[in-house]
Amino acid sequence: MNRRQACLGAMGIDVWLARTSAPARDEIIPASRLDWPDLEDAVAKCTRCPLHATRTQTVFGVGNRKAEWMIIGEAPGGEEDRRGEPFVGRAGKMLDAMLRAAGFAREEVFIANILKCRPPRNRDPQAEEAAQCAPYLARQIELVAPKLILAVGRIAAQQLLGTDAPVGRLRGRVHRLAAPDVPVVVTYHPAYLLRSPGEKRKSWDDLLLARRAARL
Ligand code: URA
Repeated sequence: MNRRQACLGAMGIDVWLARTSAPARDEIIPASRLDWPDLEDAVAKCTRCPLHATRTQTVFGVGNRKAEWMIIGEAPGGEEDRRGEPFVGRAGKMLDAMLRAAGFAREEVFIANILKCRPPRNRDPQAEEAAQCAPYLARQIELVAPKLILAVGRIAAQQLLGTDAPVGRLRGRVHRLAAPDVPVVVTYHPAYLLRSPGEKRKSWDDLLLARRAARL
């Protein structure tokens, strides 16, 4: 899948891909038409990229499927791969604290990642992996229909917004996804905040901005 197709996928526009082998029945239906159970099933069975061979299990996403806020991170780490739930390691505890500061319990938001499978040794997602996974996330966004997306970290922000700009340039203003039209606020990844606690103040500012953007 090329970058243009990836962007279309991220915007929720059907992307049809040439196949090298016979597709499973549920793969024939584009992700953009699946309801929650079929989407979850398609993700669990996904073999679109080589990460399926090294995962313990897929990490679909968790939380309130009618949430006002959707939190999007990068990819499952080791703990997430073992437990099948996003943000359950140390970074997850930090994310929970950020959410509490913003007035939410973890269960009130929907949490997902750009990738549904763990990259080996937690390396950065590759463009092709993100492109293959994009239709699943696009459909999750469509189904949740959040009032706000909080993109945590560089990878999530760059993938969602289709840019190479660093987090420092993306945070501090409200972006918009084209389709569906959802405001996006960018903040630091909780793992980065654990390493650089001095940046927590800026992250708090981002959460305040997100609260305002969700009300507009
Ligand atoms: N980091 C992420 O970006 N996502 C997770 O699920 C866990 C750690």
